Amino acid sequence: MAKPLVFLTRSLPDAVMKELKDRFQLRSNPHDRPLSKKEILKGIRNADGLISMLSDPIDREVIDAGKKLKIIANYAVGYNNIDIQTAAERKIAVTNTPGVLTETTADLTFGLLLAAARRLSEAEQLLRSGKWTGWAPTQLLGTDLYGKTIGIIGMGRIGQAVARRAAGFSMRTLYHSRHPLSPTAEKSLSITFLPFSHLLRESDFITLHLPLTGESRHLIGQKALHAMKPTAFLINTSRGPIVDEPALIRALAEKRIAGAGLDVFEKEPRVPRRLSRMKNVVLLPHIGSASTETRVRMGMMVLENLSALFAGQEPPNMVN
Ligand code: DGY
Repeated sequence: MAKPLVFLTRSLPDAVMKELKDRFQLRSNPHDRPLSKKEILKGIRNADGLISMLSDPIDREVIDAGKKLKIIANYAVGYNNIDIQTAAERKIAVTNTPGVLTETTADLTFGLLLAAARRLSEAEQLLRSGKWTGWAPTQLLGTDLYGKTIGIIGMGRIGQAVARRAAGFSMRTLYHSRHPLSPTAEKSLSITFLPFSHLLRESDFITLHLPLTGESRHLIGQKALHAMKPTAFLINTSRGPIVDEPALIRALAEKRIAGAGLDVFEKEPRVPRRLSRMKNVVLLPHIGSASTETRVRMGMMVLENLSALFAGQEPPNMVN
C-alpha cells in the first residue's frame, strides 16, 4: 500500500526527519524560512496529512485547498494558528503536542523572571561592550525573586510547573484561572486563587500561561497594566496577542510597571522598535520550547498522531 503523503512546512530535528521519511511519503520545505501562503497552498494540494508550525496560518483557504487532507498535526501545544471550526466541518483531525514542552517552557519562564529582575541582558551587554570598570556597590542593582509574590495567570500544565519552581525560589504564589484547582491540588502546590483584579494588584511578578482565544486576546491591556504595582514585572511565554503591545510599551515608558520579560510578540517576527530600545525589558525570539530534547519529543508526538490516524485509530492528541 502506498504511504500517505504528508506535507511538512518546516524541517524538524534530524531524528524526527528520519522517522517521518521512513513512515510517510514526505513533501517538505527545502528552505530555512517559513513558507508563504502561496507555497503552503501549493504544498497542501493532494496531501493526506499536514504538519504545521505555530507560525503557519492554517485558515479556511488553506484547509479548502487540501482536498485530500485528513489530519493537521500542529508542531506546538498552542493551536490558535488553525481554523479549528473549518477543520471540524471538513472532518479533518487537528492535533497538538501537549505535556512534552511543559518543563522546558517553565524553565524559560524562570530564565526570563531572573533576567528581568536581575537585569542580566543589560549586565552582559555592559561586559561585552568593554565598558565594565569593575565591581561597584551600586552597579546594576536589580530586584530579588525570593520572598516576592508571583501571580500566575492560567493554571494548566505550564502554570503548575512554574508554581513548582516558584516554591523552590521561596516565592509566594497567587494564581488566577478559568478553572480553579481543587483545594488538595492548591495545597500541594502552595498556591492561592485570587480574582484577576486582586492578583494584578498584589503580585510582584505576573506571568501568563493561558492559550490565545477570543477571550484572552488583550487580556493584559491598559486597565490591567495600570492595576499592577509600579515595581512589578510582566512575563509572557504564552502568546503575544494576550498582551496589548502598544499599551505595554506605554506602561513601560511611563514607568507604570518596572519591566517585562517577553518570549512572544503580537505580530511575530516583528518586534516594535520602541520595545527593543527599552532597557527594562528582556526580549527573546519565541524559544520557550527550544531545547533539543523537547523539540525531538514534540516531533515524536506529531509522528504518533499521524501514525494513529493513518492506522484508522483516533490520534492521541486530538483537539477537535
Ligand atoms: C507551543 O508549542 O505552543 C510553544 O509556543 C512552542 O514554542
